[in-house]
Amino acid sequence: MKLSITSILAALLLAFVASGKPITNAKKGRMRMNPPSGSSVGSAYFLTNEPDGNFVVAADIGSDGKLTLRQAISTRGLGSHGNDGGANGPDALFSQGSVKASAAGQVLAAVNAGSNTISLFSIDSTDPTNLQIIGDPVGSGGEFPVSLAFNKAGDSLCALNGGEVNSVSCFKVDKTKGLAPLSGTNRSLKLNQTTPAAGPAGSVSHVVFSEDGKQLIASIKGDPTTKTSGFLATFDISADGSLSQDFQTIFPAQGGLLPFSMTVIEGKNAILATDPAMGFDIIDLSGGNKSSVVAINNQSATCWSSFSPKTGNFYLTDIGTSQVTEVNIDNNLTGTVVKQYAQGSGSATIDNDIATVGNNDFLYVLSPNVTAINVLALNAPGNAQNIQKVDIAGPAKAAGLTVSASQLQGFTSFIKK
Ligand SMILES: *[C@@H]1O[C@H](CO)[C@@H](O)[C@H](O)[C@H]1NC(C)=O
Ligand SMILES: *[C@@H]1O[C@H](CO)[C@@H](O)[C@H](O)[C@H]1NC(C)=O
Ligand SMILES: *[C@@H]1O[C@H](CO)[C@@H](O)[C@H](O)[C@H]1NC(C)=O
Ligand SMILES: *[C@@H]1O[C@H](CO)[C@@H](O)[C@H](O)[C@H]1NC(C)=O
Ligand SMILES: *[C@@H]1O[C@H](CO)[C@@H](O)[C@H](O)[C@H]1NC(C)=O
Ligand SMILES: *[C@@H]1O[C@H](CO)[C@@H](O)[C@H](O)[C@H]1NC(C)=O
Repeated sequence: MKLSITSILAALLLAFVASGKPITNAKKGRMRMNPPSGSSVGSAYFLTNEPDGNFVVAADIGSDGKLTLRQAISTRGLGSHGNDGGANGPDALFSQGSVKASAAGQVLAAVNAGSNTISLFSIDSTDPTNLQIIGDPVGSGGEFPVSLAFNKAGDSLCALNGGEVNSVSCFKVDKTKGLAPLSGTNRSLKLNQTTPAAGPAGSVSHVVFSEDGKQLIASIKGDPTTKTSGFLATFDISADGSLSQDFQTIFPAQGGLLPFSMTVIEGKNAILATDPAMGFDIIDLSGGNKSSVVAINNQSATCWSSFSPKTGNFYLTDIGTSQVTEVNIDNNLTGTVVKQYAQGSGSATIDNDIATVGNNDFLYVLSPNVTAINVLALNAPGNAQNIQKVDIAGPAKAAGLTVSASQLQGFTSFIKK
């Protein structure tokens, strides 16, 4: 996309007219939304992903788990929207992990799917909403980057590109210079795709490290119309950090078709992958035969997931039914649905994340279609409770920040040490 002076001026004028606020904030690349809440134990972050300028929105997490939107910081890159056949619906990037914080590295990274770049920020340990960009955004190693994963130490970052040039590509995280490409990590996924990606069917979804850090895993959705199964692409990571030239393909068990988000099943060398075809896939990475597909009876499109250390259960969100589904996976890798929690019809629940505050876990659910975040306290297994609905549109408008139902994406959190 070309940005002419007139289009920039027009955009600034629109922002001014829409908000009635001075346009100097937009020039500074930082917009204030609320003063500090006073009881911050950490921060939560998501992306505006707007095609004319992407921002990270940062909120205080209070000691009660509740959020206060604080500020929006420019990524100096552009958002995008995949080609969903003209619907222009929520979940623009068909992905999980478009923004990720690393507690170990005290850094945050965000994709700019419209400019094929990744932005890196340092997290201020006293006020973690106070992000500072490090260096310039760097090329993502492909087109339409949609997902990111930090290694455990937070000194390496891998990106998943889902466009015409589709790949995984990794970077060294340098807290003063920024991101630098790691040699031997730019690996093609060999998909026949376009930029922006066409989807959700046939698009890339999520990238994660295996629990032992020895593999990088990307998920790719299949296509129900051609009955082509999606798969996980696993790359071995060498001691020098480079990736195997080729990936191994791991298919879900019979009935699985569209592996979307991946959440590691701890201690099991296995992955829970949401699968909008059915519910979720349990994928045994050991090459054994413990993979299975578990149906969620009244699901529509179960695509995002996270794990609660407190309850020991997984929490899955469905963009079609706007429900959270709590899932248990036992020691034998048998999965069952524990309970469902309605989040309001039409809110289109997408990305979610869980933060541990003291002895409590909180689930944050992005609901782009109503420009809100739902906060749930995970009190005990089978006992989650909605405790807050955070409006995004009001504070964004007051700050002169553009947000829209079709673009909002990603969710990640950071808890102070
Ligand atoms: C990664 O590979 C793609 C081709 O697949 C190429 O266009 C791109 O320049 C490479 N990037 C880096 C950083 O090597
Ligand atoms: C790639 O996809 C396009 C559009 O679906 C199709 O026309 C083309 O034949 C495909 N190319 C290959 C090599 O499969
Ligand atoms: C598959 O599972 C059966 C029992 O359910 C077991 O007997 C068999 O050895 C397993 N095969 C592999 C390759 O793990
Ligand atoms: C879906 O099914 C579960 C039980 O399997 C039930 O608790 C829940 O209320 C149902 N939701 C809807 C929207 O029908
Ligand atoms: C797990 O499998 C073992 C052996 O098949 C069985 O004895 C045990 O009861 C199973 N545990 C659960 C929780 O299903
Ligand atoms: C989003 O909201 C509109 C009405 O504002 C509704 O027609 C549409 O179905 C909703 N989308 C989803 C995915 O819930």
